Amino acid sequence: MNKQIFEDASVGHHANRKNIATAKYPAALQQNFSLSATAEAMREISTWQGYQQTPLAKLTDPAAEYGLGAIYYKDESSRFGLGSFKALGGAYAVLCLLRQKIRTQTSARVSVRDLEAGKFSEIAARVTVVTATDGNHGRSVAWGARRFGCQCRIYIHAGVSECRAAAMGELGAVVMRIAGNYDESVRQAARDAADNDWHVVSDTSYPGYTDLPAAVMAGYSVMMDEILGGNMPQNMPQLPGNAGLTHVFVQGGVGGLAASVAAYLWEKLGDARPRFIVVEPVLADCLFQSAVNNRATEVHITRETIMAGLSCGEVSQLAWEVLSIATDDFLTISDELVAPVMGMLADDNIEAGESAVAGLAGCLAVCANPQLKAMLDLNERSRVLVLGTEGATDREIYDAIIKRET
Ligand SMILES: Cc1ncc(COP(=O)(O)O)c(C=O)c1O
Repeated sequence: MNKQIFEDASVGHHANRKNIATAKYPAALQQNFSLSATAEAMREISTWQGYQQTPLAKLTDPAAEYGLGAIYYKDESSRFGLGSFKALGGAYAVLCLLRQKIRTQTSARVSVRDLEAGKFSEIAARVTVVTATDGNHGRSVAWGARRFGCQCRIYIHAGVSECRAAAMGELGAVVMRIAGNYDESVRQAARDAADNDWHVVSDTSYPGYTDLPAAVMAGYSVMMDEILGGNMPQNMPQLPGNAGLTHVFVQGGVGGLAASVAAYLWEKLGDARPRFIVVEPVLADCLFQSAVNNRATEVHITRETIMAGLSCGEVSQLAWEVLSIATDDFLTISDELVAPVMGMLADDNIEAGESAVAGLAGCLAVCANPQLKAMLDLNERSRVLVLGTEGATDREIYDAIIKRET
């Protein structure tokens, strides 16, 4: 890998440590993020057909090259055959919504098996779920809708690739492309849902809309439970105890993923939790700007980043409640760091998509900068976790990048 690019990279850094609450996990956050919600999601999702713990790879070469003790990479490329960690969130929220609908109408508590056997098919078929997406979340919602028997409409923005749109269509969703950017597609989906009595199943939350995004984030936290929890008999924790983790680098779009990870670590490990770092593309840095301004801040996206899943200009309200007090450092990185990291992982036989590598790219860029490395307390004793959140979710884009890198 061309180390020079990392040495030359301009990395935006905002230290948020003065805002950090070191005490026990706050009771106020329990309603939306809790280990018991994780355990419930894990109990459910681990029974789904095709469930398998995703691998946790140890990246020995970059750890040695950049002077770190260990780098662990959670590889989500195989999750439920959908190619990203988002498979855990949207589909789980669709299930929570349907259960609640059926319960209201029949008082019955339904299982996935009931739904898959078509037991409440008339009620389910009258429900339409809607979401805006840049690909991965929509795929999860469409997959859940087909699996549990409801209708699905997906809103995509002008920059979403044809390949990602087709993947959702193949799952039976009606896919609507709008002219604007991601945030406009979110607003259009909300408007159309209100006009048609459809149900928004969004991965971002806003005032008055929190329950389903909280379910989405509980689904994501299953990843952390596979690493540290070992709640299910078939899952040994991949890192027993906390295996001395000192740093976690997580990429941010609207912040839902990062918030679910930060909340999990805080409640589980308390003061012993690792340093938590959020990484965003400089072209879509709404979490970074929110940290700078100390309040949720919208940014206007003028150019799409190659990290399509992270191209968001507005933070999720619930996510910001956690991240504003649980994130030690916010970073921004430029798009040029993405391809080299994808290529490096491909050499290690790991298929990592553009949005998967942001956390790792941020970590390596910090390590290549002696001042930042010292500031973030990274050294040969550091044990770093990064989340490889997607595989080749657009095969054409992936192949073109890897071809250039080899
Ligand atoms: C592959 C991938 N990684 C990370 C993220 C970021 O998740 P969030 O928007 O919850 O911050 C996304 C969002 O779509 C994604 O698709």
